[in-house]
Amino acid sequence: MNQDKNDLPSVELHRYGKLPDDVEVTLATLRNARGVELDIISYGGIITRMLTPDARGRMGDIVLGLDTLDAYLSSHPYFGALIGRYCNRIANARFTLDGITFQLDNNEGEHHLHGGVQGFDKKNWDMQPFVTENSAGVVLTLVSPDGDQGYPGKLDTRVTYELTNDNELDTRFSATSDKPTIVNMTQHSYFNLAGAGDILGHELMLHANCITPVDKSMIPTGELRPVEGTPFDFRQAKPIGQDIQANDEQLILGHGYDHNFVLKDKTSDELVLAARVSEPDSGRVLEVLTDAPGVQFYSGNFLNGTLHGKGRTYPSRSGFCLEPQHFPDSPNKAGFPSTVLRPGETYSTRIVYRFSRAGCRASERVLFQPAKLP
Ligand code: BGC
Repeated sequence: MNQDKNDLPSVELHRYGKLPDDVEVTLATLRNARGVELDIISYGGIITRMLTPDARGRMGDIVLGLDTLDAYLSSHPYFGALIGRYCNRIANARFTLDGITFQLDNNEGEHHLHGGVQGFDKKNWDMQPFVTENSAGVVLTLVSPDGDQGYPGKLDTRVTYELTNDNELDTRFSATSDKPTIVNMTQHSYFNLAGAGDILGHELMLHANCITPVDKSMIPTGELRPVEGTPFDFRQAKPIGQDIQANDEQLILGHGYDHNFVLKDKTSDELVLAARVSEPDSGRVLEVLTDAPGVQFYSGNFLNGTLHGKGRTYPSRSGFCLEPQHFPDSPNKAGFPSTVLRPGETYSTRIVYRFSRAGCRASERVLFQPAKLP
């Protein structure tokens, strides 16, 4: 790549393909001054490629992805997508707000998963590029009509992806509604910091004292369960694979890790370091910061080798997700932080992905104190 091109952050727009109704899908390539590159498509706001340097400065793609728009239009487990209106599960696809019960689309057995069959991952967003002295980004907007997938209220939604020269991807979500409703959005990238192979040797630190354990249909029981003395204790970094085969009820229910880790017990806009992942061979380090109260750690258990992209297949545990979020099924759990959005209020949340290399930028590795929980 030409050096001049790397001196300043830039955004390039390309045609990516057409939807069956002839609507054009756009691809934006964001580049920062240090050569980090990111591809995002307007369909689903999907991050299709993320090029970051390894310890020796070699660039490699650290997200799982598919090769064509047709592949993204076919069935896949939310690769790289924006998730809304409500990420993860809502029990029985139902919730009651101000005395009115709303029936949502039940797209996972009787439950609702990741916003329904036509969730935000399957909408074509308006995408506008921007460049600043220190960053390159896109602003995605979407109007989700009243009743979309069963949710009340017209939701005006906005997501900004901003890639900075500090090698951070700052992702900011906001939404307003004309009726009382619920919102809980996230980003669903599958990472593999080695670029290929399984993710069991990646070392993970998760700043959480508790998880929200689930029942057999992956719905939280409502309990906050301490991680102490369980395979869910990632407060000190350990390889993802170290305890994944342990004879533990929650690991068996999730077929591995597929759980919400509690970062905070109430809503606040304080940005905290939720997770830090390092991959020993490449030396790549990913930190995830967020103001959300939880983060879903999913160890890619249901990948099964049938999908392929980027010249390879994606077997079980070839990627992991860290999805900052409000807790699953909060609308039906009085004890969980609220996900209600009322007219006149603005929903907002933020995820910062920070890319670095082992031994670099140690000054930025601040360890936040986990929230005090049982
Ligand atoms: C969920 C998993 C689900 C995966 C893909 C994750 O966010 O926690 O249960 O299988 O998304 O749909």
